[in-house]
Amino acid sequence: MTQRIRKAVFPVAGLGTRFLPATKTVPKEMLPIIDRPLIQYAVDEAIEAGCDTLIFITNRYKHAVADYFDKAYELEQKLERAGKHEQLELVRHVLPKGVRAVFVTQAEALGLGHAVLCAKAIVGNEPFAVLLPDDLIWNRGHSALKQMADANQATGASIIAVEDVPHDKTGSYGIVATDMFEGRQACISAIVEKPKPEEAPSDLAVVGRYVLSPKIFELLEATGTGAGGEIQLTDAIAELLKTERVDAFRFEGRRFDCGTHLGLVEATIRFALNNEKLAGPAREVLQRMLAEDC
Ligand code: UTP
Repeated sequence: MTQRIRKAVFPVAGLGTRFLPATKTVPKEMLPIIDRPLIQYAVDEAIEAGCDTLIFITNRYKHAVADYFDKAYELEQKLERAGKHEQLELVRHVLPKGVRAVFVTQAEALGLGHAVLCAKAIVGNEPFAVLLPDDLIWNRGHSALKQMADANQATGASIIAVEDVPHDKTGSYGIVATDMFEGRQACISAIVEKPKPEEAPSDLAVVGRYVLSPKIFELLEATGTGAGGEIQLTDAIAELLKTERVDAFRFEGRRFDCGTHLGLVEATIRFALNNEKLAGPAREVLQRMLAEDC
């Protein structure tokens, strides 16, 4: 039986250039949707999937991510003294008991593949998850990663989250070719990074959730720089599927691409409309704004 995933890697060392100037000082992953940063949503997803070791690949400028998961003694004391117990609980339970956070520095932003490789020593020889926090996935039922972890348990295959994208958008994604889907899952036969629409093998795009076999590390070590001069995770996955089964997984849930301005706006509106206290007023604001002539 396949070992259940326990370790989740969060590559958060990118430069976040699409959100400059905000990302001069605030890492993209710390941008909030209502009152929680993007990274918290991804962490909660990993914990729901059964992970107890969270590995953050950061760079030397991203203290904010480590600070966020660290204990905030002074703030906790102030909240306690002020009797703000509800807020105190929120601050204290950023990570539940029994879950540990490990920080690894990626010395140079050499790409997503290189960032994942930085986790090798901590992950060791077991299957593990990779989550890109700027892909925020919302679902009423089990989270996307939990669905994928269950699929990995059932088949032993590496599992990659995919979704259909408009044909003219293939150039923004890793695109897969697959066999016939059985339910949500299909064996991947090919994967290409950011193909032009006329060269894309399908419209099925990889999104930021992976359950990977540890063999990916040796393949990443052998991978040279690819598209954009970076070490691409896609290239190592293309090698992996030559020797091991890698499945595409159409998760249940709605993905927001919070690496783009519009995606962040959409996610904020969605989460406001889902929020018990905010839903009514947010709906009114939206209706009023749409009716305004400006
Ligand atoms: P992106 O392609 O979204 O790049 O990286 P980015 O730097 O975060 O954002 P833009 O495009 O400049 O606005 C995909 C994921 O890989 C991580 C990023 O942090 C993000 O989670 N990454 C990328 C690294 O950790 N290291 C790298 O060298 C590159």
